[in-house]
Amino acid sequence: MSRPSGDDGLRDRFREVMAGVPTPVSVVTSLDGDRPHGTTVSAFVSLSMAPPMVLVALDRGSDLLAVVGRTDRFGLNILGSDQAALATAFARKGGSLKFAGVPWETADGVPRLLGARGFLGCTVAQPVDGGDHVVLLGDVRVADPGSGRPLTYYSRDFGTHVALDAVRP
Ligand SMILES: Cc1cc2nc3c(=O)[nH]c(=O)nc-3n(C[C@H](O)[C@H](O)[C@H](O)COP(=O)(O)O)c2cc1C
Repeated sequence: MSRPSGDDGLRDRFREVMAGVPTPVSVVTSLDGDRPHGTTVSAFVSLSMAPPMVLVALDRGSDLLAVVGRTDRFGLNILGSDQAALATAFARKGGSLKFAGVPWETADGVPRLLGARGFLGCTVAQPVDGGDHVVLLGDVRVADPGSGRPLTYYSRDFGTHVALDAVRP
């Protein structure tokens, strides 16, 4: 069966549907020698419990993807609601310059951002073709839950999760 090209307005409608899907916001990191790289990512989801696995989708043009391709390791720094500025900074190009003024340490061979809402250290189990993205299936080696409210992305804005009980009149 032929695949949809997405050039008949489908792509725009798809984008609108996805803008209505709330996502977590994370910074995926890796080390190129001693230089840290990081990229803001919303396409991240838990995949398997036994063994613990996640999946992350990275654009083929991502500089971080090239680094992970060499190291086979990545960190997932799950951002908190007070870290929208970090999400914006890591959504730019700039290699290790993106880390200027950002406190971080090396954990399990990857950069860990201090103050993030949670941290996972992963090795690449398998890269999978996903159209203009590459899906990284990752084995979780380190999992460190943090605390505080998560940073979310919905309708092209940053926000957070609020329990229904808190918003019911
Ligand atoms: C909220 C938000 C979510 C994003 N999610 C993704 C994502 O899931 N995958 C991706 O490849 N890029 C995503 N991006 C875009 C990258 O962060 C951006 O293209 C970045 O400049 C890539 O940097 P790099 O080339 O250093 O890897 C997102 C950007 C924002 C603001």
